[in-house]
Amino acid sequence: MRTNRIPSTGSGQAHKYMVALLMILCFAPSLLAQLKVEHLAGDNHLIRIAPETKEKYLLLPIEEAAPEAQVKVIVNNVQQRQLNIRLALTKVDYYVPFCLDEFRGQYLNLMTHVNIDRSNRGGVGNEVWQQDLKLSNEFDSTNHEKYRPAFHHTPAYAWMNDPNGMFYKDGVWHLYYQYNPYGSMWGNMHWAHSTSRDLINWEHRPVALSPDANGTIFSGSCIVDHNNTAGFGKGAVIAMYTSCIQTPWGHDVQSQSIAYSFDNGETFHVYEGNPVLTAEIADFRDPNMFWYDGKWVLVMSAGQEMRIYSSPNMKDWTEESRFGKELGCHDGVWECPDLFKLKIENGKWKGEEKWVLICNINPGGLAGGSATQYFIGDFDGHKFIVDDEARYKGASLWQDYGKDHYATVSFSNAPDARHTMIGWMSNWQYANVVPTMQYRSANTIAREPFLYYGKDKQLYLGSAPSPEYDGQGLDKELKIKGSCTITLSNKEGEEFKIIYDEKAMKLTVDRSKSGETKFCQDFDQNATAPVRNKLTSLRIFIDNSSVEVFGNNGEVVLTSLVFPKSKYTETNISK
Ligand code: FRU
Repeated sequence: MRTNRIPSTGSGQAHKYMVALLMILCFAPSLLAQLKVEHLAGDNHLIRIAPETKEKYLLLPIEEAAPEAQVKVIVNNVQQRQLNIRLALTKVDYYVPFCLDEFRGQYLNLMTHVNIDRSNRGGVGNEVWQQDLKLSNEFDSTNHEKYRPAFHHTPAYAWMNDPNGMFYKDGVWHLYYQYNPYGSMWGNMHWAHSTSRDLINWEHRPVALSPDANGTIFSGSCIVDHNNTAGFGKGAVIAMYTSCIQTPWGHDVQSQSIAYSFDNGETFHVYEGNPVLTAEIADFRDPNMFWYDGKWVLVMSAGQEMRIYSSPNMKDWTEESRFGKELGCHDGVWECPDLFKLKIENGKWKGEEKWVLICNINPGGLAGGSATQYFIGDFDGHKFIVDDEARYKGASLWQDYGKDHYATVSFSNAPDARHTMIGWMSNWQYANVVPTMQYRSANTIAREPFLYYGKDKQLYLGSAPSPEYDGQGLDKELKIKGSCTITLSNKEGEEFKIIYDEKAMKLTVDRSKSGETKFCQDFDQNATAPVRNKLTSLRIFIDNSSVEVFGNNGEVVLTSLVFPKSKYTETNISK
């Protein structure tokens, strides 16, 4: 998938006209035959792609400020799917490819419906997309974004949110993610797929799950079915995810589906008996399953609580319990849960084990917008019982106090009983408008959760950078003695400040002068974390558009996006 689709510049008007004329002479007859746009009544169009079309892609021109057009994909008179695509009206921000491989030899019609005011557009047929639609054998995904991270996972192009279905098998870390192949803003949810052997270098694999009649594909988890409990086969990888249908009245209908893979998660077969779990509520999503005590346990977000289910086979589920009433933060919807057991690292109960319930919430985060809260307690196979309820009455504990850490969950089947986690490095307050276009959103570096005691003798959840990063030269490690301010800056004078106040036991990040901040008023805000034990060290991972700060190797963590003109290369420490 590479060739340069960006128009060449500086070649002079005459040359441009020549090229345009040549293009018309060479391609127009075949394009016209294979690609035809017909105007229907109102704001409706029909794009016909003839069965003999040879090209691999239809390139769709996108304008982010345009309203979403509803696009029906009709193959031999049968509607196969419906997409929402911001077809360009006045200018092309970028192209996205619509792959034609699976439709070859068939009549393919795309019927588009959009509700726009045409009065100042010079009449029908004049929208930019109609003139700029293209058939092509190539789509250029070569990076041209200066903000694209160097060592964080990103999609090759288009939109990404939550990490999904992460699992480890045969030396490979599998990361799926919420993906819109048809634009760099949220919509048309698919599961895209990437793999890595070291959690640093990621390879893009084909999209794994696409919307079907049960809905678009929202977040979920994967497990390896070592004992063939589901009957699909020993060692099958099974994905459980939310199928989401948006009704014409704008409501979401969410149910849970499964799909199975015989090739280590490369391709999935969607289970014919879907959905496997339904409920009467609107926000019922993000199934996270694990094997415990001879059965599958499922933790689901359900409005502002978590529901726990069990099953022998992942097809028949029984509700076991509900958790969350009047505990922790309820200023938003509870999403993307996780539940796992960890060893305590220090103090009186060192070596003992406790369960941690991860609960992502949006909005309601301490620094505004989306964030990850957690609860520590016990799980008896049926019920999660929090230790010390009083701690969570009108209060919450957060896994990462920065503004850009969300939807974090752990890898299943990880080696050495690890619960390695990855989060989405953004915030719903501004995720759709951060200043990148070829792709939007990155994931955090991988982290290892751990339990530790603070000075107040309370237990907390920490997140240390995964050991794979050790010795790679990706972070700065600073020794700290008492209050101080660390300023990261670039040659343009933009700066990111990390302020440690030992007296107040607080760690703050200030990105007000960090670079581009004005694309959303919620971006330019400080974030502050409580510090549980005096800080003696900071590890700082700086990439082209993010700063992740780990105090005492993960006892306190702050993750922030930044959009500086160039990477911060200077580090200054002052008292
Ligand atoms: C969290 C979330 C999930 C949902 C997904 C949809 O960011 O809202 O709850 O499954 O995103 O893309």
